[in-house]
This record gives sequence, C-alpha cells and structure tokens, in this order.
Amino acid sequence: MSSNEERPVMESLKSLDEIERLATKQLSKRAWSFNYAAAGDHISKTLDAEVYRSILLRPRVFVDVKQCDMSTTILGHEVGVPIFVSPMAMASLAHPAGEAGISAACGIFNAMHIISNNASMAPEKIVEGAAPGQVFGFQLYVQNDRRESEIVLARINTMPEIKCIVLTLDEPVPGKHELGMGLQKYEESQGNREQPRQSSTANTDVSVAIPSVSGPAPDLTWEETLPWLTQHTTLPIILKGIQTYEDAQIASKYAPRVRGIILSNHGGRVLDTSPPAIHTLLEIRKYCADVLEILQVMVDGNIQRGTDVVKALCLGARAVGIGRPALWGLGAGGVAGVERALQILADETRTCMQLLGVRRVADLGLQHVNTRIVEQQIYNR
Ligand SMILES: Cc1cc2nc3c(=O)[nH]c(=O)nc-3n(C[C@H](O)[C@H](O)[C@H](O)COP(=O)(O)O)c2cc1C
Repeated sequence: MSSNEERPVMESLKSLDEIERLATKQLSKRAWSFNYAAAGDHISKTLDAEVYRSILLRPRVFVDVKQCDMSTTILGHEVGVPIFVSPMAMASLAHPAGEAGISAACGIFNAMHIISNNASMAPEKIVEGAAPGQVFGFQLYVQNDRRESEIVLARINTMPEIKCIVLTLDEPVPGKHELGMGLQKYEESQGNREQPRQSSTANTDVSVAIPSVSGPAPDLTWEETLPWLTQHTTLPIILKGIQTYEDAQIASKYAPRVRGIILSNHGGRVLDTSPPAIHTLLEIRKYCADVLEILQVMVDGNIQRGTDVVKALCLGARAVGIGRPALWGLGAGGVAGVERALQILADETRTCMQLLGVRRVADLGLQHVNTRIVEQQIYNR
C-alpha cells in the first residue's frame, strides 16, 4: 500500500497504543519480536511507562492559550516539536520504507531523527529526502578496531544534515533478552547486538548498512574515548545511555565538547531493573542541578502520551525521544503510520500544554508537576 492509501486507516487510530496493536497484527513474528523485546523480566520497560503515570499535573487557569507554540531548539537548531526519534537498528524489518520513511515523517513535523549506527539504510540515503532545515543526529557504536569507526565518522562529517554524534554507552556488552527462536539465532551470530542480518523465515534482504567487522567495543572510557572522538569529528557530542546523576555530573565536566546527554535505559532492552530516565532526571535536579545549565539533557523510554512528553519537559528535559512508537508506526502504515504516531503525540502535547495554561515550551516548569510519589519511590527506603 502506498502512503496515501494508508492515510485514512491511520487517521482512525487515536493513540500510540492503537498503533502498536495494529502493527502487532500486521508485522511478522520476527519483526514484532525485534521491536517489542526488552531485557529480563521487562521491569525497566514497564517502569519507564509507570513512572509517568505517577507524576501528577498542576494546571493553571485564566491564561490565554489560544496560541501554543511547540517549537524549541536542540543544540541551537530549530525543531518544530520537543519530540525526536531515538536511534533504532533495522527499521526496514518493520516496513520497506525503513529509516528513510521515519525521516520523511519527521520532516513533516521538523522533528529531529537520530540515525542508528545499525540502521538498515545508508545514512546518505536516510537524509536524501530531508526537508529544508531538517535536523539529524548520528548514533555511534564504537568498534573494537577504531579505524572502522573513524571511517564512519569521516563519512558523517561530510553530511551537513547531521548536526551531532550520539555516542551510545549503555551497552558495553550485550544485555540478555529472550526474543523468540527466529531472532535469537541472529542475535547470537551478531554477538547479540541490534543488528539481525539474515533470516531463514522472512525479510532476507534486510541487513545493517554499516556492518560491524571487528565487533562493538566493550572498553570505552571517559579518559580515552572522548579525546579520540574529538580527534575525528568537530560535531557536538551527545552521550546516550546515562543512568545515574554521578555520570551526568562527569559528562558535564567534558563540556563544551560534550553538549548533551540522553538519559536512557535503551528502552529497557539491556539491563533489566535499570532506572527510568525520569528517576535519573529527578536525581540530577536534587544532587547536581547545574548539569541542566551546562548540558542539554534529553530523555527517552516508553513515552506513550503527550502528557508524558510535557512532564519530562517540566522536569528540565530539552526534548523527549521515542523509539518503538516510530517502529510500530512503520509496521502499522509505513510513512503514514510514523506520521500518525508523531501527529498523535504532538497533538496530545499541545493540548496538555494548553490545559496547563502554558503557551511556550520554555515556560513549562517544576510548578506544573507534582512528583512526590516518584520521589518517595527513589529516596524513601
Ligand atoms: C528495535 C530497537 C532497536 C534499537 N536500536 C538502537 C540502536 O541501534 N542504538 C541505540 O543507541 N539505541 C537503540 N535502541 C534504543 C532506542 O534508541 C531508545 O533508547 C529506546 O527505544 C527508547 O524506548 P522506547 O522504545 O520505549 O521509546 C533501540 C530500540 C529498539 C526498540
């Protein structure tokens, strides 16, 4: 089906949950398992969503909210919404439109798209149809043979659409997830990284566009890896997978070369019972709030509603990432499905801002949320 034929069906979907349910019906078992998977007993994945439900909103009244502007900036670049698509491997498993399809949908909202190191399409192809001013990041998994990564960086450095390098740090060794038989075989053959390459059942033509030869490196360090990266790119660096305030504080010492951090537990896919991004954000506020001034702090993990987006922004996040919802969008309706997912989230975000009495993203603040339940969970032992 072309994107235009899919549009009316997509319009009938009212929530990210409905998109996921449709995608679940339509996707192959293998593609579904790859998207759905989480580590261990899915405790982090579940808690990522629950934590947003425990935060209450504090709406203000008698405010003219006829106009509401959701635009903001990320690293100084204008974006239309404070929502971005987090890097995800192998989007073509969900739909042939793949990562280029995600970009096409992001272009409509001027939303940032972070391209995965393990994308199924070449980065050049993903940015090919970019809208004017559309913002991209490139996520890097540093390889054992650093020259492999240096060649990738040299390539990325020539692409003006890519505005930052997002270095993922939360998976120095593979986490354990039980994905179902078909996929397990891939994961084993690929060192369990998010890069299934061949299937005996379906989608045999799907593979990572930048194959890993020497394997992802487990020996990255603050002292060695950041100077090495700085030698090979002048693009701003964002560290993804920060899960404690201590590491956020260390990251801030590397500013201005490090410009931002993404608080993330990788969608609960790596270390089960690792904390939701919101816990880390609250801890940063309590123990080292200056980090929020020094670095742009972003979050991701099981965002389901515009109210979730707004709550994270109120707590100081610059923008909020979605992972699986983009893939479910692809699975439900290709580009039109991703567009629908972003539309639902953007509409819900705007409505929530208006109902809080807020007209601009920058005006969202601590006064609009009550986080006591979550803080009790974190601090009261
Ligand atoms: C299928 C899938 C593949 C992923 N691949 C990558 C990847 O290649 N690099 C990376 O840094 N994170 C990867 N992630 C993690 C996402 O960037 C993001 O942190 C996570 O999906 C956010 O949680 P959510 O899916 O609940 O929104 C992947 C996540 C999923 C679901």
